[in-house]
Amino acid sequence: MTEKIIETKVNVYKFDELSAAHQQLIEKAKEQVNKAYAPYSGFHVGAAVLLSNGQIFAGSNQENSAYPSGLCAERVAMFYANAQYPDVPVEALAITAYTNGGFLSDPVTPCGSCRQVLLETETRFDKDITVLLHGTEKTYELTNVKQLLPLCFEKSSLNR
Ligand code: THU
Repeated sequence: MTEKIIETKVNVYKFDELSAAHQQLIEKAKEQVNKAYAPYSGFHVGAAVLLSNGQIFAGSNQENSAYPSGLCAERVAMFYANAQYPDVPVEALAITAYTNGGFLSDPVTPCGSCRQVLLETETRFDKDITVLLHGTEKTYELTNVKQLLPLCFEKSSLNR
């Protein structure tokens, strides 16, 4: 038996240490929590996607009385951006969450299904996506989606 350790690199920032572009993307995500439809969880998530043409598309979680029929904010924003600009790569994605009267102080972390969808966009355009997981105390920056999904199943996994 051999042991394989898989590491994830996370850059941890205070908000005011982030670039102006990343601060702006996070602000767009924060605006979106007001538009979330989250009557079941009370967990309001906002996401914003920056395309390489400079356009920003934002989304929020959309819940449903049949719970699995709802969709997370990241997927709403990403599918929205990809549907509008199917040929334009994604540069960056910011995610934030508001619950119990305040934004989360620790970074919000995406669910497994969202990680898989984000990975598809990254591989589709063959371009790393910067992922910004925002909390009021600290923001995690991952330089690509693969950092979030080790041992992933992707397009190339089908050609073996
Ligand atoms: N949710 C998101 O929108 N994004 C995440 O990263 C985590 C979870 C949503 C799904 C559901 O509407 C609510 O938060 C509680 O899980």
